[in-house]
Amino acid sequence: MHLNHPDITKVLVTADQISVRVAELAAELDEYYADKDPLLVGVLKGAVPFMADLSRAMELSTTQDWMAVSSYGSGTISSGVVRILKDLDTDLDGRHVLIVEDIIDSGLTLSWLTSNLATRGAASVEVVTLLRKPDAAKVKIDVRWVGFDIPSDFVVGYGLDYNERYRSLDGVGVLAPSVYS
Ligand code: IMP
Ligand code: MG
Repeated sequence: MHLNHPDITKVLVTADQISVRVAELAAELDEYYADKDPLLVGVLKGAVPFMADLSRAMELSTTQDWMAVSSYGSGTISSGVVRILKDLDTDLDGRHVLIVEDIIDSGLTLSWLTSNLATRGAASVEVVTLLRKPDAAKVKIDVRWVGFDIPSDFVVGYGLDYNERYRSLDGVGVLAPSVYS
């Protein structure tokens, strides 16, 4: 679905900008993980398009697994409560884990997730996120790769939803407040 949509008030990142940035990130990851056989851990459901594009842009062979956690419910405000809805199928012992995230807002989800995965014997746990909002700076998490820093507005597209809609938009934009207020 094209980003030029009546419910989108502002375009933040176009599909073309995403593909250029994804290629740059993939090249950095290929270099960093050259002899580490990384396990990419995608966070469902928002990271699906990013994981698909990023992993295909990488030349390295990777394995992939998925986790589903909940922190938001159906609204737009973080609850701070994280629950595992679907856990990994992969044993992390000795693995170099790269968490693939769609967006870091409060950082609560990620901070919980990185420490959770670190306790499972992973050799390393790093994070790549497509988007990062300014509030993320308040939580002490080391995010090694960031696609784009964006303003605090509620955004949708390229995996990000509002009540399960707009995930299929080809880029990222600000949702008209009239849609959720
Ligand atoms: P955090 O715990 O506040 O960092 O939020 C993490 C999760 O909330 C993300 O992985 C998203 O699923 C969701 N989220 C945060 N901001 C947005 C947004 O602007 N649009 C859609 N989902 C968001
Ligand atoms: Mg998410």
